[in-house]
Amino acid sequence: MTYRSSEWFGKKDKMGFIYRSWMKNQGFPEDLFDGRPVIGICNTWSELTPCNAHLRDIAEYVKRGVYEAGGFPLEFPIMSLGETLLKPTAMLFRNLASMDAEESIRGNPLDGVVLLTGCDKTTPSTMMGAASVDIPTLVVPGGPMLNGKHRGKDIGSGTAVWKFTDELKTGKMTYDEFSHAESCMSRSPGHCMTMGTASTMACMVESLGMTLPGAAAIPAVDSRRKVLAQLSGRRIVEMVKEDLKISKILTREAFENAIKVNAAIGGSSNFIIHLTAIAGRIGVELNLEDFDKIGSKIPLLLNLMPSGKFLMEDFYYAGGLPMIMKELQSVLHMNTMTVNGKTHRENIHDKIECYNNEVIACYDSPLIKEAGIVVLKGNLALNGAVIKPSAATPSLMKHKGRAVVFENIEDYHARVDDPNLDIDETCVMVLKSVGPVGYPGMPEVGNMPLPTKLLDKGVTDMVRISDGRMSGTAYGTVVLHVSPESAIGGNLALVENGDIIELDVEARRIHLHVSDEVLARRRQHWKQPSAIAERGYVNLYVNHVQQADKGADLDFLVGKSGSKVTRDSH
Ligand code: FES
Ligand code: MG
Repeated sequence: MTYRSSEWFGKKDKMGFIYRSWMKNQGFPEDLFDGRPVIGICNTWSELTPCNAHLRDIAEYVKRGVYEAGGFPLEFPIMSLGETLLKPTAMLFRNLASMDAEESIRGNPLDGVVLLTGCDKTTPSTMMGAASVDIPTLVVPGGPMLNGKHRGKDIGSGTAVWKFTDELKTGKMTYDEFSHAESCMSRSPGHCMTMGTASTMACMVESLGMTLPGAAAIPAVDSRRKVLAQLSGRRIVEMVKEDLKISKILTREAFENAIKVNAAIGGSSNFIIHLTAIAGRIGVELNLEDFDKIGSKIPLLLNLMPSGKFLMEDFYYAGGLPMIMKELQSVLHMNTMTVNGKTHRENIHDKIECYNNEVIACYDSPLIKEAGIVVLKGNLALNGAVIKPSAATPSLMKHKGRAVVFENIEDYHARVDDPNLDIDETCVMVLKSVGPVGYPGMPEVGNMPLPTKLLDKGVTDMVRISDGRMSGTAYGTVVLHVSPESAIGGNLALVENGDIIELDVEARRIHLHVSDEVLARRRQHWKQPSAIAERGYVNLYVNHVQQADKGADLDFLVGKSGSKVTRDSH
């Protein structure tokens, strides 16, 4: 069989010389260029992405496996996106990183690719890029950190930060205690070990069939993560021989499975945006309503923070994602193909057992009966908004309240703790200009912390609405992803202090009690915020980004160009 890489390494002319000779400066022997499968290891390693900082090491285990199976592994870096350092938000660069992944895979002599992922955006960006090329692709997630340990208690990444910050604000914690807690929370390699976006993304790729079974939950430092990497290296070589392209894995049924699994694990609301963007690349029809239709009736089976009590390490020891899929088998498409060449049905066998029912509940006695993310519509979100009921307060899921409006994030920071702010716990906090265009990049600020004066009173939750996102590690009765966003003139832009807003999760409704006539009048006076960026990538981004309900991909990146490159470099 001749593979794609032979169009580089197999040439017997000047170009073949060029393609091989420079590679040989790395000490690769002649026989590696004999037409064997060449496997790219797309590495999102970076010291600026702490969650992925161990992936250099993981790559070595993938290489072992590739060599063992007779392939030729070549590791390459792409732009790595870390949630914690990157300003104004890593999400702004997800599409840029996806372009990097796509062009790096297509432009090089690769027959198959292993994606090394970890922190939130590193999974969707590489998946989007790979989907637009469509060669055999397998994901090795980097795995979660060990459970945080603080004063004898388990604490979760992100989730504990929100709690400690409230405690610092209200004086329950000193600054010294606060900074001491930092190293208690993050004490090993790996990504956030709550069911935040990174864990959600790892479960997403496993449920899509893009990883070897059981990949999502193994802690980053567990030796079995290395075994997984090595076995994945072996397997990708076989996938090339079988021509098992990513498009054969990413079918409509696979996406439906991912939506159901995400509901059962209480996955992040960011899942919606990323899965939609991936579907757009591979060419599978998936709209916002599908998430509600397919997922909202699925029960919550996994008891992990932020919705629940445990952390990823506990999830792994309890049986991991295969156990969740086993419980869900009556509602999943079990005949979909996975990267190991077997269907989910073949992978989810009798030997898989649940070792801790407190962590993984049975389908028949779930933690919550209907847990999936709900899609809301109404005059406040004509193209939809979302809420994660499993992270919300049940008594607030049907609520009518007076709007307290923050025009943008600076306005919010300047006024939220003002003792004279006219607000109480029945109000609805509204934040504008945090959408894809408005911020830009749709940051995770939708779970805006409550005013200190209300926290002091013991208020723990309020209805909050914005066109932004929220961290997968956060919680609250938070309406997110309002589309169209305020910065492009969505009705959210027209909300004024004192307007009455009604949330009714059961009726799937988010309504602004202001007449169409009044809204039309307000619209006449509305001025679009001025351009955020005159040049560079951000300028390209704001001019081409699609709204949240479409996955916030750049319009010209939707779809795929395949793996063909016809012209040589010299
Ligand atoms: Fe990287 Fe949470 S900050 S996964
Ligand atoms: Mg996050």
